Amino acid sequence: MRGGPGDAIALHAGYPDRELLPQRLLRSALARAARSDAALTRPPAAGLPELQSWFASEVGGSTPVGVTPPAAGDVLVLPGSQSGLSSIFRALVMTGQPLLMESPTYWGAILAAAQAGVQVVPVPSGPEGPDPDELARAFEETGARVFYAQPNFANPTGARWSGAVTHQVLDVIRTYGAFLVEDDWAHDFAIDSDPRPLVALDDTGHVVYLRSLTKSVSPSVRVAAVIARGPAKQRISADLSASSMYVSGLLQAAALDVVTQPGWQTHLRTLRHQLRARRDLLVTSLREHAPQAHITSVPTGGLNLWVGLPDATDLHELVRDCEAAGVLIAPGNEWFPAEPAGPFMRLNYSGPNPGAFPAGAQRIGLALARQV
Ligand SMILES: Cc1ncc(COP(=O)(O)O)c(C=O)c1O
Repeated sequence: MRGGPGDAIALHAGYPDRELLPQRLLRSALARAARSDAALTRPPAAGLPELQSWFASEVGGSTPVGVTPPAAGDVLVLPGSQSGLSSIFRALVMTGQPLLMESPTYWGAILAAAQAGVQVVPVPSGPEGPDPDELARAFEETGARVFYAQPNFANPTGARWSGAVTHQVLDVIRTYGAFLVEDDWAHDFAIDSDPRPLVALDDTGHVVYLRSLTKSVSPSVRVAAVIARGPAKQRISADLSASSMYVSGLLQAAALDVVTQPGWQTHLRTLRHQLRARRDLLVTSLREHAPQAHITSVPTGGLNLWVGLPDATDLHELVRDCEAAGVLIAPGNEWFPAEPAGPFMRLNYSGPNPGAFPAGAQRIGLALARQV
């Protein structure tokens, strides 16, 4: 069977399939939240204090000796991190001013920056992260004061910054008196290596940190948080008051319940195995059936493979041909804040029906073969 939207092999999506969600924990948590006061009361604007504490303690767990971990009061709970991106860009970058962004990067961040009316300046980034000298040059030449980045399991590339790059980038950020907006969207999707949030290394307020539970708890329990200190936090908080005001207490209570159950850690361990098996199956399938496609590097976490394609590839035609053959893929050009560095596609290995990955790769291989 192929062709209809219902039976297509979906490698284009951004969200994990429900079999990867903590379904049992979540349903019990929602039932408990429905019976609690949270169902009837307005939570504080910054979030439920226990949830603020949990987000802070998650960072505190990776904070080295000698660095002060963030406090619960540094946390603002958000209705998803997408709205956090918009608020942060509006609060920290004046209209028309430059904002440095890794390239390629998350299309939603590019969109939020455009909507905030800021001028995006791309900084090329590879499997080990951006070149710190190039980043310093970009700060110097543009006068920018903010850099948006995903140091762990970036969307779309899966890149994780090396330890050396991490420290050098922090030095550059401090030298220029700038902010690093760290988007830790895939914190719960580690596979071969654990995430190392940069914010854990900084107690000077130069890192503004975003952590989302949307994809790991449930897309329907849209809860995230920003951690920021000092005046930056005040400015972001003021922007959030004007946009979302506060986040549903019911959803916050349910999210907190899920992540504080002992079963959550068990779930994350199982998820790690499931993601590894899915990632490896898609990698092997592509290598076997679509040798024209080049996996830039096998990600050690996250949900996606970033795949380079032959230079002459017509992406639009490839997407259309794949769709006609019953495979949905995401064209890579959406993830570039400026001119794409070449033709790429993003394939998500967390969608439904991983058993169909070999068939999907085969059809992609055939569609690519038709291009030359
Ligand atoms: C890198 C990145 N940041 C932020 C978001 C938005 O997350 P949320 O669903 O919490 O708004 C996404 C969603 O795809 C993402 O990939």
